[in-house]
Order: sequence, then structure tokens, then C-alpha cells
Amino acid sequence: GAPVEVDISKLEPGMLLTAEWRGKPVWVLKRTPEMLDTLEKLNDQLADPDSERDQQPAYAKNITRSIKPEILVVIGICTHLGCSPVFRKDIGPADLGDDWLGGFFCPCHGSKFDLAGRVYKNVPAPSNLEIPPYTYLSDNRLLVG
Ligand code: FES
Repeated sequence: GAPVEVDISKLEPGMLLTAEWRGKPVWVLKRTPEMLDTLEKLNDQLADPDSERDQQPAYAKNITRSIKPEILVVIGICTHLGCSPVFRKDIGPADLGDDWLGGFFCPCHGSKFDLAGRVYKNVPAPSNLEIPPYTYLSDNRLLVG
């Protein structure tokens, strides 16, 4: 499939937009400083916090799994059986548990992912959400693919 251009000029902090690339949803999430602060705290609850097992571009091998820390670009498909996880940005106690700091919840079988798409331990999904190849054409324009 052809690469897809994504305009992120209207993306407010804390908001997520969905683009499509190769028939797959690609989420672009603009993380706030508060959201970025959650990443470090979660490491011992995650199955692969450093993304060592993942197929992903080299620039995603860091705690934010992204080129720019605030912008997450990730494929929105659960790595278990391919359902669509739901963006749950709530920080603090929620129905997902007292330790929920925001992220993505898959309603099919209960897998949880953090705000970098990293999978929690003891859920059905075997790996972190996939990071697609992308580049920045300018500050406000991404090319996915
Ligand atoms: Fe997401 Fe099974 S498909 S938990």
C-alpha cells in the first residue's frame, strides 16, 4: 500500500486521531506531559517495557516508542486476536483498576496497553501494539508507511 499523509495540526494535547494505512487504523495520540510521566512508573507492570520483543522501527526503541516524545503513532489493532482496543485516557482510579494510568483497553478479552501501546503482564495479548514506519514531512505533517 501507498504511504499515507496525516495532518496533525489540529491535534490537541491529550487527543487521539485515527488515520488509515493498508486497511489498518493508525492512531496518532498527542500525549501531555502528565501522560508522558506515567510511562516510567509502569515498567514493572508491563510484559515488555523496553520493546525488546517487538517488530518496530529503531526510532521506537525507547520508553515513548516514538520519534517525538509527545506524539505516539501506533497501529490500533490488538496483538491478541485483532480487535480494536479503546482509548481510555483516564488517569487515576477507574473501572480498570486503581493502578490504571490511562492507555488502551481491549474489550474482547481484557488486554491492557499503556499510553505507549505497551502491553501489561498477565493479559491475553502477547506483545506491545505495533509501531508503523513513519516520518515527519514537517512539524504538522506525518507520512505513515
Ligand atoms: Fe484483544 Fe483478545 S483481541 S484481548
